[in-house]
Amino acid sequence: MKKIVSVLLIVCGVLTAGYSDAEIEKKVTDLLNQMTLDEKIGQMNQYSNSWDLTGPKPDNDRNEARYEDIEKGLVGSMLNVNYVKNIKAAQELALKSRLKIPLMFGVDVIHGYKTIFPIPIGLSSSWDMTAIEKAERIAAREASAAGLNWTFSPMVDISRDPRWGRVMEAGVEDPYLGAQIAKAKVRGYQGHDLSDHYTIAACMKHFAAYGAPNAGREYHSVDVSLNSLYNVYLPPFKAAVEAGASTAMNAFNTLNGVPATGNQFLVNQILRSKWGWKGVIVSDWGSIGELRAHGTAKDLKHCAEIGINGNTDIDMESLAYHNHLKELVEEGVVRENQVDEIVKRILTLKYKLGLFDDPFRYLDEKRQTTELLSEENRRASREIAKKTFVLLKNNNNLLPLSKNIGSIALIGPLVKDENVSIGNWACQGGHEKAVPVFDGFQRVLSEKTELLYAMGCDIYGDRRKRYDMEIDSEKFKAGFAEAVDLAQKAEVIVAVVGETRMMSGEASSRLEIDLPGVQNELLMELKKIGKPLVVILMSGRPLTIPWIAENADAILVTWHAGIEAGNAIAETVFGDANPSGKLTMTFPRCVGQIPIYYNQLNTGRPKNRDYVWLSGYIDGPNSPLYPFGYGLSYSTFEYGDPILDKSEMGFDETLTVTIAVTNTGKRDGEEVVQLYIHDQVSSIARPVKELKDFQKVFIRAGETKIVKFEITREKLIYYDENYEELLEPGDFEVMIGTNSDEVKTKTFTLK
Ligand code: BGC
Repeated sequence: MKKIVSVLLIVCGVLTAGYSDAEIEKKVTDLLNQMTLDEKIGQMNQYSNSWDLTGPKPDNDRNEARYEDIEKGLVGSMLNVNYVKNIKAAQELALKSRLKIPLMFGVDVIHGYKTIFPIPIGLSSSWDMTAIEKAERIAAREASAAGLNWTFSPMVDISRDPRWGRVMEAGVEDPYLGAQIAKAKVRGYQGHDLSDHYTIAACMKHFAAYGAPNAGREYHSVDVSLNSLYNVYLPPFKAAVEAGASTAMNAFNTLNGVPATGNQFLVNQILRSKWGWKGVIVSDWGSIGELRAHGTAKDLKHCAEIGINGNTDIDMESLAYHNHLKELVEEGVVRENQVDEIVKRILTLKYKLGLFDDPFRYLDEKRQTTELLSEENRRASREIAKKTFVLLKNNNNLLPLSKNIGSIALIGPLVKDENVSIGNWACQGGHEKAVPVFDGFQRVLSEKTELLYAMGCDIYGDRRKRYDMEIDSEKFKAGFAEAVDLAQKAEVIVAVVGETRMMSGEASSRLEIDLPGVQNELLMELKKIGKPLVVILMSGRPLTIPWIAENADAILVTWHAGIEAGNAIAETVFGDANPSGKLTMTFPRCVGQIPIYYNQLNTGRPKNRDYVWLSGYIDGPNSPLYPFGYGLSYSTFEYGDPILDKSEMGFDETLTVTIAVTNTGKRDGEEVVQLYIHDQVSSIARPVKELKDFQKVFIRAGETKIVKFEITREKLIYYDENYEELLEPGDFEVMIGTNSDEVKTKTFTLK
């Protein structure tokens, strides 16, 4: 019997993949013609699994009635239902409904489903699109093995404000890099065929400009110019559209006064008309209902009207459509054909996912058992994690440490921690344990090395509520003496410090972004001992760490590196792996510099000398602590001069730039060669430099590689205030280097 079922499944799979768009359209229209208005509205209603919330409960929640609603065909999709057994139960209810329309099931699969990969800011820091695609492919395989067919990812929000906790979910300040990552993630989740039951639908979010909240405060209003919107915040979304993202999610914020949810300018004019995108838009959690709090809707019925006019197809957890859409149609406020257009999009997606052919196609207990958290997936997580670490400092080549070292003092609250490296938004891997750094060190080292350990302090210390209450910080330093004592006995000190998982992510903005608690004071005490000091920094955002930058001998940023963190870190610290990550967000010196990003405009009075009437601060420099694109390696790379194949370029021509990069170190290593452009004169001021290409290249010790880039008009155009492409003749600088600050420059003329 089993055999027959699987043969049938294979046949169905082939058939599904074989549907043409016209065939799907016909099927969808036929089905739509049989649907009552209630059933149509049902497709636009999304419920969370009632015991697993990722946001506040809606008003008048009718938990007990939710399952009845599914049976009546009043629900089109669900979120937060996990695993084959539960999804199957819900799908069976849906199939009891009159038209037996299957449900879609979505979850926030952000950096792994059960096998947790590094948090997205870490993945971004790899600058390795193959690795990023692979991580999301595995996440999709696991999620689909657990019965899911939709992820609310990738988040492609550009952000230049590390106070905002959600920088851990993308962590990119640059639109070009953000666009490449968006494409890699969509490819990873969706593969080539959405109906393949190893792939899931992607959801680009949060549309749009959610990453620029005022003062870095979560959910706060966003005011960005059209110039920034078109040239900075939208490109990753456009790239996701081009890569075929099937769905999008509204954002919680207002954009220039108008909420992004139900925003006709953003959705109808840009996403639907200008980009011609035909995918499904889901609201963010309760964001339709939140139009009341924004003050643009008087009640939930009004929210539903705004939501539908702004083409939000699915209402996640507001109950606005469920409770009021029928009324609005009956009153003639909303036309039924508006509803029909939306329902067609949703049904089309269900056809593409293959759900009509076999509503149980993702539900295979056996696959779930073998695929989730497999050894192979763990190995992939470890390999990818090693690509995400950013070496910020390495005085006298202190790292890698020798495996023959006699003794190491491992100090800090994160040495033995099993939880932090899992990171925020960890889906079903949230309860798993990450390999602690201590265990990783033990595995890599022989018994000849003495591993000493002291926690020193906890992460929070007195900062947890520093603006609410006075706390005696001395109390939190009780462990310092033991740590110092122990560190004195070792040859080298490795301090493992940082932020907890929940200090970044949604609703985790911070006022100060330094090392929390008394961790910095602990490092100061350790420094006094005079032994070499290595700092391993685990965080979900760039931190302000001027003291560490000045005083540590080596700094390795590992972000929250996933389930294999300790192994990946140990292999890097002892030289089995060579760090190759580069920063994707600038590290500021202090909070006062925020927002800070490399691709800024020049100002009329750039601070290019020490003089008062220039754009700067009276109490500190403009320059960051570490710039965008920065990251060292155990190898050293020397750049030759960029060579242009011509000095003049026609609008439709290609200009080729080559540069020789030599690994002058003693180890093989990878380098991210970065290409920046500056349009010297244009009618709208252009950034001092903009990343337009990069290549991550492996170069053997002593070897020289010629890296070749091609510059075409796509790399040079930008958008004016009418969202029209603009490109003017004139001189351009092309800059190539190891980070956004250290570049070699040549010029060419566009004619
Ligand atoms: C987040 C979304 C997420 C949704 C569902 C919201 O609070 O902003 O990114 O997809 O919850 O969990």
